[in-house]
Amino acid sequence: MDNQLSDSSSLGQPSAPYSTLRRFLRGAIHFFSYHFILARKSTRRARAAGFRFVVRPTVFHPRFFLTSEYFASYIDGLDLRGKMAAEIGTGSGVLSLALARAGADRVVAIDINPNAALAAAENARLNNLGDRVYPICCDLMSAIAPRPQFDVLISNPPYLEGEPRDLADRAWHAGPDYRDIRALFLQARERLKPGGCFYVLLSSDSDLGVLGRLIDEAGFAARLVGKRSIVIESFNIYELTPI
Ligand SMILES: C[S@@+](CC[C@H](N)C(=O)[O-])C[C@H]1O[C@@H](n2cnc3c(N)ncnc32)[C@H](O)[C@@H]1O
Repeated sequence: MDNQLSDSSSLGQPSAPYSTLRRFLRGAIHFFSYHFILARKSTRRARAAGFRFVVRPTVFHPRFFLTSEYFASYIDGLDLRGKMAAEIGTGSGVLSLALARAGADRVVAIDINPNAALAAAENARLNNLGDRVYPICCDLMSAIAPRPQFDVLISNPPYLEGEPRDLADRAWHAGPDYRDIRALFLQARERLKPGGCFYVLLSSDSDLGVLGRLIDEAGFAARLVGKRSIVIESFNIYELTPI
């Protein structure tokens, strides 16, 4: 896939207004995902993307939600030997583990949810990658000094607008007008080395107009490098490079 976007203020075409059926389907999927997966009270064991996981309550499940394995398979195709990497919004740690498997020397795995940071540490040890994956609990990259230090950044952020119901729902909803991730692109830009690259996964259900403008304002050019369509939406992986 090689779709160079000439104007990063537009990450492709905005989605067409939803039909009633599509709105109903999306609402139903979120309702069931929230109540049966995100809001569960028990710790689960799982396998995904070739790794083993302990998935604590409130932590985004790496198997049930399709974006995790899709993004992990994209990362598997990168050669990250000797690179310094970070992931913003690590959840179970699945993508940070994939970064380490692709050769990254060090991976800082960040999440605002303390249960996720704990799970990522536990899962890194479980998969013998505890010496290269360093989970921390903080808001975006606020705990990391704003100087160029990473070769590669990745994020599968909460890609829907709207107030999250609770900590678990912060995996899906980023607040009105993307309040909770508005600073993501600028913070990433400040911490990326020259020649570095930021991979981000968004959905056709995201407000690509708003997110595209934030990407543009942060000083990135965007290129669509991966796309997977399911019945009701498509998942897009963008490669963001400093202009
Ligand atoms: C869609 S989930 C992705 C989890 C994991 N990377 C994966 O692909 O399975 C988004 C994650 O971002 C985290 N998150 C949301 N807002 C955040 C913020 N402001 N700072 C750090 N992490 C955040 C959520 O807690 C959640 O774990």
